[in-house]
Amino acid sequence: MIRVQPAYDPEDPFARLFRKAVGSQWSADDVDWEAPLGLPQRQAVALTRVLSPVYLGEQSAMYGASAVIPQLAAAGQTSAQLYLATFLLDEARHFEVLTQLYQRLGHHPVALREVPEMLRYHHRLRQGDRIDWIWGILISDLFARQFYQAFAKVQPAALFGRMSARVLLDESRHQAFSHTYLKRAVPTLPPERRQALRGMASELLQTMGAIHRRLRDDTEALGFDGDVFLGELSAQIEAHARSIGLTGSGGGDGGGDGGDPGTGADRAHADWARLIAGKRAISRRSGGVAWPTGSMAASASTPARRFPFDLHGLAASCQQCAVALLCRARVTQSAARA
Ligand SMILES: [Fe+2]
Ligand SMILES: [Fe+2]
Repeated sequence: MIRVQPAYDPEDPFARLFRKAVGSQWSADDVDWEAPLGLPQRQAVALTRVLSPVYLGEQSAMYGASAVIPQLAAAGQTSAQLYLATFLLDEARHFEVLTQLYQRLGHHPVALREVPEMLRYHHRLRQGDRIDWIWGILISDLFARQFYQAFAKVQPAALFGRMSARVLLDESRHQAFSHTYLKRAVPTLPPERRQALRGMASELLQTMGAIHRRLRDDTEALGFDGDVFLGELSAQIEAHARSIGLTGSGGGDGGGDGGDPGTGADRAHADWARLIAGKRAISRRSGGVAWPTGSMAASASTPARRFPFDLHGLAASCQQCAVALLCRARVTQSAARA
C-alpha cells in the first residue's frame, strides 16, 4: 500500500548508499569510444560471445529490480527501495554501453537458441520473493564483477577495459547492498528457506557451468580457463554465504555446513575449490589475450577472503571508494567481525 510519508531514516546505510549512487552516475557519453579495442579479430568475436550472458544479465537485473521495488515499499523498507531505484538505473546504463559496444564491434551476442541456459538462468532469478532475488542477484553480480575485473586489470587502456572499470564501481555498490540486506534478512529465515537459498546457488552455478560448456571455444580463444573461473566464483559465493549465515556456523540451522552437507551445491563448491588450488582462471595460451602474471589470475590460488571481498573495487582509498560509507556503518562493521 502506498503511503504519503513512509518511514525513512536518512542515516540508514542504504539511504547513504542511495545518495552515494546518485552522486556517482555516468553515461555512455562519458566512454571514450575512440579508445583502441586491443583485441585481434578472433578475440573480439570471442568477447562478444562470452559477454552475452553478462549482457542478458544486465537486462534481467533491470526487470528484477522493477519487480522488487514494490515489495520493498510494501515492507516499509524505504531506504532499500530508494537504493534499488539507482540499481535499476545502473543496470540500464550497463545495458546501454554494452549495446553500443556490440555496435562498435559489429557483432551480435549469441542467440538464446544457441545457449538456452541463459534463459533458464533468467527465469530462475525471477522465482521467489525479494530475498530470493537479492541472493540471486548477488551471485550474478559476483559473476559480472569477476568478468569485468579481468579486463579492467589486464587491458586498462583498451575500450572494454576502461568501460569495465566504470562498471565495476557500480557493481561494488550492488554487492555491498545485497550482502548487507541479506546479512540482516537471513537470520530471520527458517531453516527450510535457508536450504532453498543454498539450492538456488547450486542451480545457478550449474546453469553457469552449462553456459560455459556452450562457449568453451570462445573462452579458450580469450585465454580464460572457464572451469577455474567458475571455481573462483564458487569460492566467492561460499564466502558470502558463510558471512550472511546461509552456511557454516553462522547458519544457525544445525551446524556443519548449514546442516545440509550432501547437497549438489556443497559438492560443486568442493570440486571447484580443489580446482582453485592448482590452476589459474586466466592463462597464457597461444592466440589468447596476453594476460600478464599478477593480473586477476594471480588471485586464483589465494583463498577467498571473508569480508569485505574486495568490495572496494578499483578505488585507491576510502575517500574514492563507492562503498566507504557502508563499510563504516555499524551493520557492516559487525559483519566484518562475524
Ligand atoms: Fe550490471
Ligand atoms: Fe549489478
